[in-house]
Amino acid sequence: MNWYAIALFVHIVGALLLFALLTIEGFTLRTGMTAAQMNRILGPISALAILVPGMYMVLAGPGWTGWAVVGLATYVLIAAVGAYTGINVMRGRMAARTATISWLVRTGMALAVVFDMTVKPDLIASAAVVAVGVILGVAAAVPTLRAVRPA
Ligand code: HEM
Repeated sequence: MNWYAIALFVHIVGALLLFALLTIEGFTLRTGMTAAQMNRILGPISALAILVPGMYMVLAGPGWTGWAVVGLATYVLIAAVGAYTGINVMRGRMAARTATISWLVRTGMALAVVFDMTVKPDLIASAAVVAVGVILGVAAAVPTLRAVRPA
C-alpha cells in the first residue's frame, strides 16, 4: 500500500459519486423531483475527491500526458455545464428537454473520460474519444428532440 494507491482509491470514489449524481439527476429529470440540495453537498465532495488526488497522481506519476490534460479539461466542462444546468432548472429557466440533452451529453463525456483514464491514449485520440462521447450523448437525446405527431 502506498500514497499513490490511496489517491487512486479516493479518485475512483469521486468518479463513482459523479456517476451516482448523474444517475440521480436523470431520475429527477424524469420524475420532476428536485435533488438540488443533495447536489449542492455531494457535487463539491465529488469534485474534491476527483481533482485533489487526480492532480497528486499526475504530479507523482505520469505527468501532464494527453489523456490527463483532456481528462482535466473535460471534467471542468462537465462541472461547469452541470452547475449551469442545475441552477437554471431550479429557477425554472431551462426546459426539461434542454436539461435532458445537457445530462446525456455530460454522461457521454464522463464515460469518455473513464475510457481515457484507463486506456490512456495520446492527446488527439483522447480528445476524439470525448468528441465521440458528446456525439453519443446527442444521439441518445434524439428521441427527446422529435416532436410527437398526432395520429
Ligand atoms: C470525469 C472525471 C474523471 C473520471 C470519471 C476519472 C476516472 C478515473 C478512473 C476510473 C481511473 C482509474 C484508471 C485505472 O486505474 O486504470 C482514473 C485514474 C487516474 N486519473 Fe482520473 N478521472 C477523472 C478526472 C481526472 C482528472 C481531472 C485528473 C487530473 C487532474 C485525473 C487524473 C488521473 C490519474 C493521474 C489517474 C491514474 C492513472 C494510473 O496511474 O493508472 N482524472 N481516473
